[in-house]
Parts: sequence; structure tokens; C-alpha cells
Amino acid sequence: MSQATNQSWGGRFSEPTDAFVARFTASVTFDQRFARQDIQGSIAHATMLARVGVLTDDERDAIINGLTEIQGEIERGEFNWSVPLEDVHMNIEARLTDKIGITGKKLHTGRSRNDQVATDIRLFMRDEIDVIEVELKRLREGMIELADREADTIMPGFTHLQTAQPVTFGHHLLAWQEMLARDHERLLDCRKRVNVLPLGAAALAGTTYPIDRHVTAELLGFDRPAENSLDAVSDRDFAIEFTSFASILMMHLSRMSEELVLWTSAQFDFIDLPDRFCTGSSIMPQKKNPDVPELVRGKTGRVYGHLMGLLTLMKSQPLAYNKDNQEDKEPLFDAVDTVRDCLKAFADMVPAIEPKKDSMYEAARRGFSTATDLADYLVRKGVAFRDAHEIVGQSVAYGLKSRKDLSEMSLEELQQFSTIIEQDVFDVLTLEGSVAARNHIGGTAPDQVRAAAQRAREALGALEVRA
Ligand code: ARG
Repeated sequence: MSQATNQSWGGRFSEPTDAFVARFTASVTFDQRFARQDIQGSIAHATMLARVGVLTDDERDAIINGLTEIQGEIERGEFNWSVPLEDVHMNIEARLTDKIGITGKKLHTGRSRNDQVATDIRLFMRDEIDVIEVELKRLREGMIELADREADTIMPGFTHLQTAQPVTFGHHLLAWQEMLARDHERLLDCRKRVNVLPLGAAALAGTTYPIDRHVTAELLGFDRPAENSLDAVSDRDFAIEFTSFASILMMHLSRMSEELVLWTSAQFDFIDLPDRFCTGSSIMPQKKNPDVPELVRGKTGRVYGHLMGLLTLMKSQPLAYNKDNQEDKEPLFDAVDTVRDCLKAFADMVPAIEPKKDSMYEAARRGFSTATDLADYLVRKGVAFRDAHEIVGQSVAYGLKSRKDLSEMSLEELQQFSTIIEQDVFDVLTLEGSVAARNHIGGTAPDQVRAAAQRAREALGALEVRA
């Protein structure tokens, strides 16, 4: 045994905790991050205990004043965190007892660290979800406005990363926005299950004191007390739900990042990112690297890892609380920080994207992107779709040989493949005609994109009213 330490459960123990074990089992190095929420929960608990007559009003006031002072000490960096005191909860309680004497020891009446820690993480997650939601909203707003501005900007749309049909840049941006709208719903849905009060479950079975959990729930802004004490202290579904929200969001951001990286390359040359979002190379003077989207793409991995970590942490845990659960915090903290920072980076960067419209337009013109429009034209003139497909295929093969886009061929050249083709074909072979023709809900026509942007704005506004 190395050097011994003292702990608050000494009564039952014949020797002190081994110093290494004390360090190994301690969480204070990281759980001090939710000290504010721990104090918030303790103040509500003491208030409730006084209301039901378990504490006197004087005792309650002494506790609340002491905790408020401790909050100040922590904020000013004056609080002395002690590893032998194991975690944030016992550190704060010990300091309270230092300050106000025996009354400090009454705070833990009718409570256990098991329901306390579950309450703290939920309060913490609720605060973080609200911060993340602000960034997510800001990103969605910026994306919708950019889409509206770029409703007429033509670019190639891709399947298999091969030029497929022309679309508008606004339409592409609104596709991204749809991904984020679903993420937003998932975040708010997760928040509902975060916002349930475990306190009162005590260690696992509840408590013999006449507590009123509705009071505590209301004081802390929770929707309701958790229904079952065993579940309340052991449930970490909300942590898994948050990291799955975060993983899906990061998957979306990584897809957007990948496109941004491709688009800034000389080969695509579709957009410019302002210099403030890029870095240079120490050896290659010409380089301007899209670091921000690259890093967001890279950070996706750690968030997926945290989801897997938390799922595995909870797998096979018997009821009720197990020390394993202490391991929920670091992955959650990192997932929260990563998602918040990536959303902030995107919310700052997306409105600053500078589309290179000529270059996008040229790329759409080059890839026979109106081939489907030519086929549809033939169908409208009575040709069966399969035959039309064949005729257009031959025209494209000719275009590849003669290095001409369909719109660059003369009427005579096109008529080699079908005599049904007339002068009006050039109306459908233009990129503008092609996108304008897809004029229905969900289509890429500029008018549809503007209408979709307006609906997206309204949907986002409606969320705000509900919150
Ligand atoms: N630090 C612990 C955690 O994070 C607090 C709860 C400890 N409870 C216990 N019975 N040891 O989970």
C-alpha cells in the first residue's frame, strides 16, 4: 500500500483507501466542469427540504449562502480541488461544511451521489444543448439566406460524382439545410428526455424523508420527476441519444466538408473560401488549404467513437448505479465541445462562401448535363423513352468525339440522330431551360428554390416559438 488517504465513509473501513486507488477512482479532475450545475441542484434540494420541514429556514439559508460563496470561489479560480475528496460533489460539500459547520453536513439528507450526479449531468447537458441549438440555428439561417441569394446560380449536379444534370447552387445548399433540419428535430427530441429529474431516487430505492420531487423538478426547470428510482440513477440513454444526434450531425457536416474541399480545388474551382478560414503551406507558396472543413471532416471520427464508447459502457450493466457510469463524462464533454465548435466554424464560414458562378456554369455545360432534357424533348414529340435514350446516347458519343456539348451542335448535326428534332430543341438544351423546367415542390427551378427557402425560414421560425 502506498500513502493512505482519508475519505468520508471512514466509519465502515479498517484502513484508508490506497493513494493510487484514490486517484484511480477520482473524477474531480473532469467532473468539476459541472460544478455550477452541482450547486444549482443542491440549492434546489435544500429549498425543497426546507419546504417539507426537513431543514429549518435558517439552515436552508446558511446552505444557500455558503453554496453561493463557493460558486464565486470556483468562478474566480480560488477553489482548491482535492483529489482525495474524489469528485465535484464531495469537494463542494466538504467546502460547505468548512464554511458553515454542521449545517453543511445536512445538505446530503435524502440524497445520494447517485441521484445527484445523474441530475448534474442532465442539467449540464440541457445547458449545452441550448448553446448547441443556438449555433445550429445560426448555421441554418445562414445557409437558407445563401441559398436564396444563389437560387439562379447554375452548377452541375452529380451522381457517382459524375456530371448528371444541371441544378442550382441554391438547391444544393437547401439539400444541406434539410439534413440540418432533421438534426435540429433530433436535438430537441433528445432534450425532452434529458429534461427529467432523477433527484429523489437517492442511492437507488428512494428515501424515507417526506420529500416533494415535484417541487425540486419545478425549481430546476425539469418537466417531471423520473418515474422509477432504479431507472433514474442508472439511465444514461440521454447521453447515448445526444451522441447519436452528434454523430449524425457530424456525418452531415463531414459530407458538406468533403464537397467544400473538392469545390475549392483547382480541378473543380466552384467556390472560394475567404482567407480567414484557410491556411497556407510552409513549403509550397501557392497553397491555400481548406483547413476548417478538413478538420470538421476529421473530427467526425472522435464523435462516432464516443457514441460507440457510451453504448459499450452501458451494455450489460445490471441495475442500478454502477461506478462504470463515471466513465460517461469525458466522452460527453468531448462530443459537446466538438459539435459546438464545428457548428460555430460552419455558421461563420457558410455565409462567407463565394461561389465562382462562371466556373460552375462552364462545368455544367461541359458534362452533357442536358442529355436527359433532350430525351424528354423526344418523348414529348412521341418517341418512346427507351428509343429516345438510345438517340441521345448516340448524340453524346458524337459529342465526345467532336468535343461538343449538345447545345453546341448545329440542328443538322443533331438531326443525324433523329429527324424529329427541330429548332425548338435549343430551348431545352440550355442550362437555364433545364433547371427552370423542374418546376415542382422539391425541384431545382429557381422559383422553387426561392419558395423552399421561404418555407425553411418559416419552419425555423416556428421552432423558435415552441422553444
Ligand atoms: N463520481 C461519481 C460518478 O461520476 C459520482 C457518483 C458516485 N457514487 C457512488 N456510489 N460511488 O458517477
